[in-house]
Amino acid sequence: METMMKTVVNDVMFKTTKSRKEIINLFNTKKIDEDWSFAGYKPSDTGKWTHDYHRYPAKFIPQLVEKLIDEYIPYKDAHINDPFMGCGTTIVTAISRGFKASGTDINKIAHLITKVKSTPIEPEYLNKKIEQLMSRLKVLNGTQITLFNDKIEPLIPQKHIDRINYWFTEENKNELGKILRVIYDENDEVIRNFFLVAFSHILKNCSIWLQGSTKPTRDLEKKSVKPYDALRRHLMKMRSGNDAFYEVVPDRIRKNINQYLNIEIGDARKQPVSDETVDLVVTSSPYVTSYEYADLHQLSTIWLDLADDLTEYKKEFIGTAYKKYENKRLRSSIAMDIVNKMSKKSKKMAKEIEAFFIDMEEVFDESFRILKHGGRCCYVIGDTKLKGIDILNAEVFAESLQYSGFKFDRLLKREIPSKILPQKRDEKTGRFANNHEANFEAYPIEYIVIGLKE
Ligand SMILES: C[S@@+](CC[C@H](N)C(=O)[O-])C[C@H]1O[C@@H](n2cnc3c(N)ncnc32)[C@H](O)[C@@H]1O
Repeated sequence: METMMKTVVNDVMFKTTKSRKEIINLFNTKKIDEDWSFAGYKPSDTGKWTHDYHRYPAKFIPQLVEKLIDEYIPYKDAHINDPFMGCGTTIVTAISRGFKASGTDINKIAHLITKVKSTPIEPEYLNKKIEQLMSRLKVLNGTQITLFNDKIEPLIPQKHIDRINYWFTEENKNELGKILRVIYDENDEVIRNFFLVAFSHILKNCSIWLQGSTKPTRDLEKKSVKPYDALRRHLMKMRSGNDAFYEVVPDRIRKNINQYLNIEIGDARKQPVSDETVDLVVTSSPYVTSYEYADLHQLSTIWLDLADDLTEYKKEFIGTAYKKYENKRLRSSIAMDIVNKMSKKSKKMAKEIEAFFIDMEEVFDESFRILKHGGRCCYVIGDTKLKGIDILNAEVFAESLQYSGFKFDRLLKREIPSKILPQKRDEKTGRFANNHEANFEAYPIEYIVIGLKE
């Protein structure tokens, strides 16, 4: 079945195991792999341990990572990598198995969430710290309990005060400022970060951000939640998650977490690991012009002061609508076709798509560098349509992996059960829209494209 094809790209000879025609045919005839849809799983299964610490767009479910590890890692010691960690599903899973975990995300809040979610804390100690935090914030006023400990000076980052005023009522702004001040007074970094993740998670509900919207839109009618109550509820939830996670993480890892967890804020094309040291890469990349992660997390970014210049920050994200290359060329012929078709509709969008696929080709090169021989990379990705043109992300990934040196080893096709179905897209812009605005499903189906480093 397999044919060998040689293609000259950028003066380098690449060997591919599956031709473009074979790839397209394989995708067209591929049946759903029912076992990989995890349809019967409840939110309590997908949100177990620390997995529900923080909302995150397009996060995948832990069961998917667990099944890939079960199939490909039959041994006890392994090193798992995720170049696009997001909120850390792969990393948490690797740590729960007692493996080494490494990875990057360019989104600073993603890095913080991943770090906190993968670091189990001794339950009694954590409980004591939560009690201390809450009792510093609330003061007894006669028989009533009120939040306002008047002695606390609110900490409101002045650099982004216009944005904070745009998103928060005066009352919530001050209450959040007091909470932040007390959090920063915590000396233990592990605990402080745990609190910061809780703080970051409640920001959306405490703001006038339109509920459920993946675009930064205000809802002037919104009755936003009170920060103190939201924080207390969420800390209780995180505490139970930590307790359960603490139980599953092997003792030797709990005691030496820094030797097992190697994650950085950084670009997917530069992993913090040496050549040929990784057993398995499990990741899901961004999609071209879909979520603007920097926009989506702007409430956390401004409160935690994570970026000086939001516009510059955005440009570092792969798949963003702010990018184009003039001096780099695509390798994948399927990608070139898509770009050519798109340039007849929108030159700007064609450039963005081209930049996305070029960036992804470089990410595949990096996966190849770090994997051991016999190791695999698993890229979770869906296809979509922009301006009426099929954007065959998964087919491009399958072809591109080969140009990086991988054998295109396996294709899985999974349905995304409705509970965890991502947002819908606006067909004109390609951006995710509120469900009532969208005119077609974004990714009811997704693929896992698997490459083998022979
Ligand atoms: C689909 S999400 C990953 C979700 C993840 N699998 C999870 O379960 O949470 C893609 C991630 O890629 C990150 N990203 C975008 N550009 C990047 C880059 N240049 N380098 C590293 N990460 C990047 C985004 O911030 C986002 O977190």
